[in-house]
Amino acid sequence: MGSIEKVGVIGGGLMGSGITEVAARAGLDVIVIEISDDAAKAAAGRIEGSLRRAESRGKIEAGEVTAVLERIRFETDLQTLADRDLVVEAASEDETIKLELFRNLGRILTKDDAILASNTSSIPIVKLGAVSGRAHHVMGVHFFNPAPVMQLVELIPSLTTSTETLDRMRGWVTADLGKKPIDATDRAGFVVNSLLVPYLLSAIRMYEAGYASAEDIDRGMVLGCGHPMGPLALSDLIGLDTIKAIGESMYDEFKEPLYSPPPLLGRMVDAGLLGKKSGQGFYGYES
Ligand code: 3HC
Repeated sequence: MGSIEKVGVIGGGLMGSGITEVAARAGLDVIVIEISDDAAKAAAGRIEGSLRRAESRGKIEAGEVTAVLERIRFETDLQTLADRDLVVEAASEDETIKLELFRNLGRILTKDDAILASNTSSIPIVKLGAVSGRAHHVMGVHFFNPAPVMQLVELIPSLTTSTETLDRMRGWVTADLGKKPIDATDRAGFVVNSLLVPYLLSAIRMYEAGYASAEDIDRGMVLGCGHPMGPLALSDLIGLDTIKAIGESMYDEFKEPLYSPPPLLGRMVDAGLLGKKSGQGFYGYES
């Protein structure tokens, strides 16, 4: 089994930049694909900001920030990923976009055993494998936000993923990245979002129905249940568009009303109130 040294990450958004930081901190050479130079600049700023925070808290050695940043390159052309051992796709949670990416990446990667992984939260891995033409080497690798801090990674093989691919990704996640994996089945939501998303949607329904203020709903779960943050603040952190997309995929798969996004969530997304990343969600954020 070849070692994983050259990594590609598709998308430098919240999750993509977090995954890039984690991989570069593990000493790997990372190419990030973004759609424009401006988007690449924003992603680079996010990664540097997070590294500086880690440095100020003593999580990485003083002076290591520059070395980590030097291991990261930004590109806009998918062809630059040809020599990668692993590509982790972290584009928007949109099935059409992801299918197109996997179709192209399947043709572009030149190494026979190169792995194509998706950080999707809810889109069927088996479909991504099928369009790639290299289904044995395709699986889900689901990180949690903020990726440099959260220890968990869900590993999701599909019906067509080989045991060798799963073993290599388990080794990468544990030995190289120092994360803790759990195994999940290729069903929308996997383990964590199947439990978390209905909870977040219930909090939004509760707020929409006027049961309590956003602050009191969040304080209830922080002070009453010991959660690090309340459900509305966590929804803002994840991104309201992402939660809506995950809820819709889970609803499509299981037809359970508890996965159906409430009207307020849809209206907020339509209004561009996406949470922390847009500066306004259930709470306001300074840029
Ligand atoms: N690199 C490394 N460590 C970092 C860091 C960085 N860039 N930034 C912060 N840290 C460390 C800090 O040093 C601190 O470590 P310590 O406890 O050992 O001192 C720890 O992370 C917490 O950092 P802060 O003190 O800055 O921040 P808070 O205490 O306010 O915690 C939080 C922030 C980690 C976001 C916490 O509120 C939390 O855990 N919230 C819940 C997040 C969560 O549930 N995420 C999952 C979302 S679901 C998801 O992503 C799936 C998707 O599909 C939707």
